[in-house]
Amino acid sequence: MSWLLPLSYILSGSLFIFSIRGLASPQTARGGNLLGMLGMILAIAATMFSPLVSDWLLPFGVILLGGMVGTYSALKVKMTSLPQMVAAFNGLGGLSSVFVALAEIISGSRAYLDNSIGLIIGAVAFSGSMVAFAKLQGLISAKALVFKGQQFLNLVLAVAMFGLCGYFIWSGDLEIFYYLAALTILLGVLLILPIGGADMPVVISILNAYSGWAAVGIGFSLNNVLLIIVGAIVGASGAILSYIMVKAMNRSLLSVMLGGFGAEKQGSTSALGQDKTARSGNPQDAAFIMENANKVIIVPGYGMAVAQAQHILKEMADDLHKSYGVEVKFAIHPVAGRMPGHMNVLLAEANVPYEDVFELEEINREFATADVAYVIGANDVTNPLAKTDPGSPIYGMPVLDVEKAKTVFFVLRSLNSGYSGVENPLFFAENTIMLYGDAKKVTEEIVAALEQNK
Ligand code: TAP
Repeated sequence: MSWLLPLSYILSGSLFIFSIRGLASPQTARGGNLLGMLGMILAIAATMFSPLVSDWLLPFGVILLGGMVGTYSALKVKMTSLPQMVAAFNGLGGLSSVFVALAEIISGSRAYLDNSIGLIIGAVAFSGSMVAFAKLQGLISAKALVFKGQQFLNLVLAVAMFGLCGYFIWSGDLEIFYYLAALTILLGVLLILPIGGADMPVVISILNAYSGWAAVGIGFSLNNVLLIIVGAIVGASGAILSYIMVKAMNRSLLSVMLGGFGAEKQGSTSALGQDKTARSGNPQDAAFIMENANKVIIVPGYGMAVAQAQHILKEMADDLHKSYGVEVKFAIHPVAGRMPGHMNVLLAEANVPYEDVFELEEINREFATADVAYVIGANDVTNPLAKTDPGSPIYGMPVLDVEKAKTVFFVLRSLNSGYSGVENPLFFAENTIMLYGDAKKVTEEIVAALEQNK
């Protein structure tokens, strides 16, 4: 029966691979999730019934506890808080690699190299994710925390870390292993502190990849094929996602990791002057303009998620199309909202057909032929300073060219800046009309006006 455990592990590893494949598209995501759950159940059952586990009480106890925390989070955490939840869970994954490595060394394992790799990557993933969590949760400032000599300090610590690691591998001294853990945890904190809020999604994805590679290291030291497979899947998919995101923001991985993005820069966040005034309108005017349009492009952003306006937005789109014959499309920026795919998930939840939803590069040219761009709770993803102001922290990020539409409506509660802290000059543009208020409430009033005007 010794073949049963590796076979089960290979089977559950395959289920994880098919699960990731399913998650790649909204249509197959549910199925992908189910396959992942099946893979996990199989992995746990196979391990519990194997000779690896002699005492059932402790593993069952922790599975129960973890399951309760997971279920509670899944039910309670709001969609807008998912990034920090991912960061926190990610950190716990890193921490578990640290503990496994420690437990292995304490119990006399001589796999010094494998355990050091698991420890170092796991510790950075743990402490870095905790800082990312604190920033996203607003426990500490989301701005980049930069001080003089920071990168030099990080370099010195990194050199010391590799030195300690080499010494540990040579000596196998447990005390050195503890120092190594402490130093690496400190390095993780210092590496993430200088990274600004706007780069956080990329950072979380990179840390996610780290926790995967840490699991691979631990998998080698425990000789556990499933940990190696799953760790490699997490590591590789995290790395690919990070790459896709930095490409979407026109940044390089190196510049993200060296930090400083999102730090307050003199002049760039408030380059607009104080004397400009923004034109505002009311939902009734907006309804009138949109029902007489040929083409309306809706641009959702973080504020739509906060207001949970996706359902009423779908109703507005349906009304415009069915009652007034308007062509309505949705334009999605890759980093709109606060997590990858945030807008896609919300629009899918509201049953917006996939064929009406377009990615940035597919739709950007169409704004020039649109009568109206209805920007609902989005800000940074439309900011033209990303195209024109090399001093701006968002310079180089591709943005939606909403200003090319004949009329641009911005549904926001104020003229405040978005996540990156950069003011949006479009608020003061000639063809912009601000619709102040909560995204859901404003859209409800537009729908009411559309009904009335029929
Ligand atoms: P933001 O630039 O953050 O703008 C959101 C806007 O929504 C704000 O101007 C805010 O203004 C408004 N808002 C908030 N609550 C609202 C409500 N209830 N009703 C109406 N408006 C509301 O959002 P975006 O354009 O989606 O851009 C995303 C930003 O987040 C980018 O900088 C991106 O890099 C960053 N980011 C993205 C991710 C991912 S992966 N998507 C993760 C983390 C960070 P008021 O408060 O004045 O209403």
